[in-house]
Amino acid sequence: MPLTRDPTGRALLGGLALDTILGRSDVSTPFYAYDVDAVVAEAAHLQDGFDGAPSLVCYAVKANSAGRILRRLAHAGVGADIVSGGELDVCLGAGIPADRIVWSGVAKTDAELDRGIAAGLLSLHVESVEELGRILARASALCLPASVSLRVNPSVEVDTHANIATGHDEAKFGIAADDLPAALALLEGQGLVTLVGLSSHVGSQMRSTTSYVEAATTLARLARQVRAAGHTLTLLDLGGGMGIDYGDGCDVAPADFVCAASAAVRREGVSDLRLLCEPGRAMVGAHGVLVARTIQTKRWKGRDTVGWLFVDAGMNDLARPALYGARHRIEPLVEDGTKAVRWKVAGPVCESTDDFGVYDLPDPPPGAVVIRDAGAYGYTMAGQYNGRPLASEVFVEGGIVTSIATESTAAAWAVRRLAT
Ligand code: LLP
Repeated sequence: MPLTRDPTGRALLGGLALDTILGRSDVSTPFYAYDVDAVVAEAAHLQDGFDGAPSLVCYAVKANSAGRILRRLAHAGVGADIVSGGELDVCLGAGIPADRIVWSGVAKTDAELDRGIAAGLLSLHVESVEELGRILARASALCLPASVSLRVNPSVEVDTHANIATGHDEAKFGIAADDLPAALALLEGQGLVTLVGLSSHVGSQMRSTTSYVEAATTLARLARQVRAAGHTLTLLDLGGGMGIDYGDGCDVAPADFVCAASAAVRREGVSDLRLLCEPGRAMVGAHGVLVARTIQTKRWKGRDTVGWLFVDAGMNDLARPALYGARHRIEPLVEDGTKAVRWKVAGPVCESTDDFGVYDLPDPPPGAVVIRDAGAYGYTMAGQYNGRPLASEVFVEGGIVTSIATESTAAAWAVRRLAT
């Protein structure tokens, strides 16, 4: 369940009052906290969306690659969509079998292709004709078979931030429909690389199913044509991109996307194909928060805000506001009824873009705030700019803290820099 409040105003995640974590000597701020049970429940909802059709939810690991989350998903039978050798390691290590893993990405290195081929993945998703040529070469050098899917670019415009729309004609991702014949021709007359499917991913944070269904329909039609040309397809991967409510509304549930898209595929007469989806944000976004302490304020007079409220989380911890102008609701960790005023909330990083935006928060400000919906693309996009350690991560399962991870400290950062 996303963030809730108890009757005394304390923020709860997965049934746990977050201010109890703040009091622990083994966790410092800023820290991420995740409701792992809720992530597993999201996977089940998505699976239900397929309505009994042969299917597999391949979680997009780039959204949140925490082992604690991956192990629970592995146990629940969820697969993975990965984009690097590092993500392959973490998935296999967490117990997600190779035959439930698909590998996307526009420029996999030869070493990565070799690892993907040797592991026997469910599918290497091919993003260009050139990449297919390289996969053929690597498979033949290794004398090993490989299963591939062609990621087609269905030329769909998506109503989302320009930086996260991927299905348009000039995107760096996917193979244009015009180039499909060239890709199919490369597969002729060899026995090692088998075409098993088609895939697409048209964008992220979509708040309507329209583009997703459009892409699925295009994919299903292309699948018919590819089959007619003599290829034996077994899967269609519909991609990820299901949006969540960051506080500005989202009327569709993640399962609505797969439900509508699988109906569209059935209408196109290829319902025997196993359907995959690659949700990232929708599985973890709402079930993670970033908790930060207030450091100090800087007040001014005669403006529409009372001043700056500096917290100890910055753009290095959560890059989305700086990168995409994203808004993440910021609230007191404990609401005590103090009258709220308008603050500009920012972190300590020496960049003007280290600015989370304007939020109504009490004056005097609370000792700690919770930055909501930070479970996806939060920690995984974090960096150590300004010599800042990575935030700790706290995992909540069954209403209690089951694991705490602190990967780096300021002292360790300094030692590494001095070692150069
Ligand atoms: N599949 C492929 C091939 C992708 O490229 C992505 C995301 C996903 C699945 C998962 O998409 P999701 O369901 O999470 O929307 N850092 C940005 C989002 C970038 C998404 C990149 N690709 C953000 O914070 O909004």
